[in-house]
Amino acid sequence: MLLVLLVFVSYAILLSAVLARAGHRSGAASSRGAPRSHPSRILIVGATGGTGRQLVMQALERGYLVTVLVRDPSRLQVEHAHLTILRGDVLDGSSVEAAMRGQEAVLSALGHKQFLHPTRILSEGTRNILRAMEKHGVSRFVCLTSLGIGDSAGRMGLYYTLFVIPVVLPFYFWDKSRQERMIEKSHTEWVVVRPGVLTNADKRGRPRHGDRVGSFFMTVRISRADVADFMLDQLVSDTYLRTAPGVCW
Ligand SMILES: NC(=O)c1ccc[n+]([C@@H]2O[C@H](COP(=O)([O-])OP(=O)(O)OC[C@H]3O[C@@H](n4cnc5c(N)ncnc54)[C@H](OP(=O)(O)O)[C@@H]3O)[C@@H](O)[C@H]2O)c1
Repeated sequence: MLLVLLVFVSYAILLSAVLARAGHRSGAASSRGAPRSHPSRILIVGATGGTGRQLVMQALERGYLVTVLVRDPSRLQVEHAHLTILRGDVLDGSSVEAAMRGQEAVLSALGHKQFLHPTRILSEGTRNILRAMEKHGVSRFVCLTSLGIGDSAGRMGLYYTLFVIPVVLPFYFWDKSRQERMIEKSHTEWVVVRPGVLTNADKRGRPRHGDRVGSFFMTVRISRADVADFMLDQLVSDTYLRTAPGVCW
């Protein structure tokens, strides 16, 4: 029994070390670009998810002209004069490219629940987004990944580092690492946002953010509403340009 436990803990620590190397690390960041004009037309991917819906509602409140690329428009349940809903799949390059026309920035809250086998949904979807952005000259990309990757490895707290990530999410987190590396290599003005565990609580405002947030012991959390607020701030701020700040309460 002790041996099994020892093997398991070694596996969990090794996985954390692999995720630390595989995701974005701040030393690998390219140089910062010059500040630019604020976007008004934005594309949101993952808009029917918990964080995506918050992004849509808060972006509309902030006055953006919002386009969403969704597989099933009936799942969005938001109507607004400034909202354009396009049906499409992020894994289909042509639908991503069609959605990209005329946009000035992109926000992604892409995710899925196919945890238990290897997938490339996040990395392939992100590859399509980046290709379309570069083709249409769209520069700013704010993308949601997670604490626990790259130089934030271990910062989701001990329960996630030793149990949830190695048992439930190893394939998912590996794909998130690939997603981060792909973004890091792109020529876009990117910001990767790494939240703690997401909740559906109301927005509190003023979360902690930066490359040292999170905890190696306690599980750290933040509401989807606060994450969306922080992501929208990154459209008009160069503070975290080409870096991957963590964000949590
Ligand atoms: N849950 C947590 O505690 C936690 C912690 C840290 C980070 N995160 C990350 O945060 C992100 C957002 O999580 P969430 O729970 O708010 O969102 P979510 O409910 O997982 O929603 C994911 C969104 O991605 C969309 N999507 C998936 N595959 C797609 C495809 N092929 N084409 C187009 N859209 C596609 C989904 O569309 P459909 O509605 O069509 O499926 C949905 O809108 C995820 O990447 C997640 O891993 C989560």
